[in-house]
Amino acid sequence: MKKSSPGAHIIKKDLKKFPKIPNVTNYEEAYKNFSWEKAEKEYIDFFPDGTMNAAYNMIDRHVEKGKGKKTALLFESATGEKEKYTYEDLRRESNKFANVLESQDVEKGDRVFIFLPSIPERYIAFIGILKVGAIAGTLFSAFQEAALLDRLADSKAKILITNAVLFPRIQKIWKDLPHLEKVIVVERGSLNQPEEKNLVFYNKEMEKASEKFEIVHLSKDDFSYMLYTSGTTGKPKGVVHAHGDVLQALVTTRDVLDVHDDDIYWCTADLGWVTGVVYGALGPWALGATQVLFEGRFSPENWYKVLEENKVTVWYTAPTAIRMLMGSEVKPKDYALSSLRHLCSVGEPLNPEAIWWSLEAFGLPFHDTWWQTEQGSITIPNYPIMDIKPGSMGKPLPGIIAAIIDDKGNEIPQGEEGHLALKASTVQSLMKQIWGNEEKFKSYFVGDWPAGHSLGDAWYISGDKAYKDEDGYFWFIGRADDVIKTSGERVGPFEVESSLVECEEVVEAGVIGKPDELRGEIIKAFVVLKPGIEGTAELIEKLKLHVKKHLAGHAYPREIEFIDKLPKTRSGKIMRRVLKAKELGLPIGDTSTLEDY
Ligand code: WTA
Repeated sequence: MKKSSPGAHIIKKDLKKFPKIPNVTNYEEAYKNFSWEKAEKEYIDFFPDGTMNAAYNMIDRHVEKGKGKKTALLFESATGEKEKYTYEDLRRESNKFANVLESQDVEKGDRVFIFLPSIPERYIAFIGILKVGAIAGTLFSAFQEAALLDRLADSKAKILITNAVLFPRIQKIWKDLPHLEKVIVVERGSLNQPEEKNLVFYNKEMEKASEKFEIVHLSKDDFSYMLYTSGTTGKPKGVVHAHGDVLQALVTTRDVLDVHDDDIYWCTADLGWVTGVVYGALGPWALGATQVLFEGRFSPENWYKVLEENKVTVWYTAPTAIRMLMGSEVKPKDYALSSLRHLCSVGEPLNPEAIWWSLEAFGLPFHDTWWQTEQGSITIPNYPIMDIKPGSMGKPLPGIIAAIIDDKGNEIPQGEEGHLALKASTVQSLMKQIWGNEEKFKSYFVGDWPAGHSLGDAWYISGDKAYKDEDGYFWFIGRADDVIKTSGERVGPFEVESSLVECEEVVEAGVIGKPDELRGEIIKAFVVLKPGIEGTAELIEKLKLHVKKHLAGHAYPREIEFIDKLPKTRSGKIMRRVLKAKELGLPIGDTSTLEDY
C-alpha cells in the first residue's frame, strides 16, 4: 500500500515569527549547499601537526579563545545543592583527572568505564579519558551485576570509576574481571568508603594532581567512547565511536537543537545513553554552550522546577517523559516557563498528541529527531524552520543521504515501506566498529562494502522500517527486528530471557515489546515453568525482582505470562514475532519455519 502524509494538520513555520533567528533559516538551501569539509574547517580546531582531540574541541579551545569564564555546567544534585562550573573549571578538573589516569598507567586505546550517577565528576572523568586518548565507556547507574559483567568483560576494561554506593555491585564481579586493574572511587557525599585493594580515591588523587596536562594528539578516526547496545540476538554489543564524531555532534546541536551562545540548554538524557554522551557532553560543549545537569529523579514537579529555576531556553527530552508530563496533575502553567524557546525529542516515536499538547502547554511544538547509538548523532530531524508534520521524524540532515531501500539495497519508490538506510560515507559520526565483532559490524551494511577501509558506496541499514512521503519527510513504522524500546531505553529480549532462566523455576522464556501508551513499549515475558511449579502471583513478583536486581532496574518485564511451550523454529530459535502476534491478536504470518506449536 502506498502511503502519503496524513496532511491535514501541518504546523506551519514563518521566519518572521521566530523570537530568535534560527541557526538554519532555509532547510532546502542548507541541504543543497552543505559540505562536511567546509563544516570541519569552520567548526573543528586541529593541532598544528594536523591531529585533533574531541576534548580539546569541547573545553580547552574555548578557554584559549577567551571564554574560560563562561558557565559550562549548571548542576543541581538530588538533594538540591547547586554548583556552577565554568569552561576554565572543566578544563582544570579534566586535566587533573587525565593526570590521575596517567598515574594509573592508562594509555591510548585502554578502556576506562564510568559507573556513576549524574554528577559533575561523571563528566570530568569523561573529558579526562578523552584527553589521555583512552576509550570512555559509559554505564547506566541502574545496571546490576549481570549487565555490568557483560560490558566490562567484553571490553576488557582496565579502570572503572564509581562511587561507594554503586561499588558493591562491582565488588561482586571483580573476581571475574581479570583485566580490571583499578577502581577509582568518587567520594562525593559518601561516608563509608569501601575497603579493598586496588581502590583509588578520587579526591585524594585529584588533590595531588597537576592542573596542567598535554592533551594526547589523535586522528579523527581514533576511538573516543563506546556504548553497549542491544540487538535481537546475543549479548549487548560494544558500539565504538571516534574523536571525529565531534563535528556532527556540534553541527546538529547548533542547527537542529538550535543552541545559540546565550542559551541555557538542558538535555535530560543520562550519560549511559548515547543521547547523554552526544547531546549532554560532546555537542553542546564543542559548541561552547551553557548546559544544565540534574541528578534528581524524574517527576513533573522536579522537571518543571529545573526548567523554571535555570531559565532553560532549549530542551531536549524523550517521548515517554513528555507523555508522563501530559498525564500529570501537575501543570506547566503553574511554573514560570516563558524562557523556553525550542523543544526537541528523541528515542521513540513522538506521537502527534504530544506535539499538540506541548503547543498548548508551552506555546511551542516538540521537534522530533531520529538517530541511533550506531550513528553517533542526529541524522533525520525536524529543523526549527521546517513545517512540522506531526508523527514524522523529519528530513535528512544536510550532508547526509537517507533512503528507503529493499533487502538488496535498491531504493524503493516514495510512499512504500522499506528499510530506513543512510549512505554510510555521509554520516560523519558513524560507529567505527563493533568491539571485537567484525562480522556484526559488517552485517549493518549492504552494497559496495568494504572498499578497503572506506565505507565505499555502502548503505548503513538502521533496522528501522519507514517510508518517505511526497515532500521528503520520513515516517517511522517500526523495528525490523525484536529490539524493544521501553521508556526510550533499548533492551534486547535475549538479555531479559537469559536473566529469567537463571531462576530455578524457569525452563525457558520468550520476551517481546508490547505496545504501551505511556512507555511506547513495555517488556512482556512468556515463561515456561519446570514441571510441578505453579505460576503464582508471588512467583511473578519474584521473577520481576530477579531481573531488576541482577540485570538492570529498567529492564524487567512488567508483564509475565506463564505458558506451556514457546513457539520455535525447527532449528530451535524462539520466534518472538509469533508471541507478539498472538499477544496483539494479529495474524501470525509465515509459519513455514515454525516447529509444531
Ligand atoms: C528508535 C537513540 C521513532 C528507533 C538516539 C531506533 C526512534 C532506536 C526515534 C535507536 C524517533 C529513536 N522516532 N523511533 N524519533 N529515535 N528511535 O540506539 O527504533 O537508543 O532504531 O538511540 O530508537 O535507539 P538508541
